[in-house]
Amino acid sequence: MKTALVTGGNRGVGKAIAMGLRDAGLKVVIGARDAKGGRQVADELGVDFKHLDLNDTASINAAKVWLPDVDVLVNNAGILEEVALLDEGTNFARSLQIMLNAPYELIRAAASGMRDRGYGRIVNLSSDWGSFKEGFGGGGGYAVAKAALNALTLRASQELPDTIKINAMCPGWVQTRMGGEGATRSPEEAAKTAIWLATLDADGPTGGFFRDKKPMEW
Ligand SMILES: NC(=O)c1ccc[n+]([C@@H]2O[C@H](COP(=O)([O-])OP(=O)(O)OC[C@H]3O[C@@H](n4cnc5c(N)ncnc54)[C@H](OP(=O)(O)O)[C@@H]3O)[C@@H](O)[C@H]2O)c1
Repeated sequence: MKTALVTGGNRGVGKAIAMGLRDAGLKVVIGARDAKGGRQVADELGVDFKHLDLNDTASINAAKVWLPDVDVLVNNAGILEEVALLDEGTNFARSLQIMLNAPYELIRAAASGMRDRGYGRIVNLSSDWGSFKEGFGGGGGYAVAKAALNALTLRASQELPDTIKINAMCPGWVQTRMGGEGATRSPEEAAKTAIWLATLDADGPTGGFFRDKKPMEW
């Protein structure tokens, strides 16, 4: 049975991805920064839980012990600041930490085990707001972090063996705390592309950027 880690799996799109992977027969672990709440959601879903705060180096270092056991890594956690990129109140470093540096560390640690076992699937939850083609969007460091996450996806795919598939995706505009109530799609709908990428066959794509299971431009 393959083991999947979904970061920020306690709510929103991450929770829907965790449910989908569980239903697809994977052993799912949700990572969450709030230990009590994360454990509660894991119990509710019938999956495992690991405390993982992506803004905390010690927490990431602790995870490096078990990350090599992960076959499927879904870098889902994200933050969207409500301030302008160049505003004094912007915590640019925090956006880059959670949506770029932490995914990089997790990918590196998980990839070592994936290489050994000759199997790995990595899914990076990005956004059209991180796309050069679509013109960027969002507050704070969001767009820059997602664009860099896209670059990380493509660059890592060039280094990883073809047995490890790494792809980025945009979930669309989703009804979550981040997306707000006016959003046009449900977390379950948004999770479909992530679940597809997390369970790709051996001849599936790598180094791509997808929305609704279709390639999109970086
Ligand atoms: N919603 C949209 O319309 C939309 C559109 C495009 C892309 N996306 C992307 O899709 C992904 C999921 O978004 P969502 O809409 O589900 O967002 P969300 O409802 O705001 O959920 C964000 C998740 O990230 C977690 N998180 C934040 N900071 C963290 C940290 N330091 N350590 C660990 N986990 C942390 C949150 O945990 P807490 O519960 O502890 O806060 C939560 O589980 C994100 O990468 C987002 O950028 C979303």
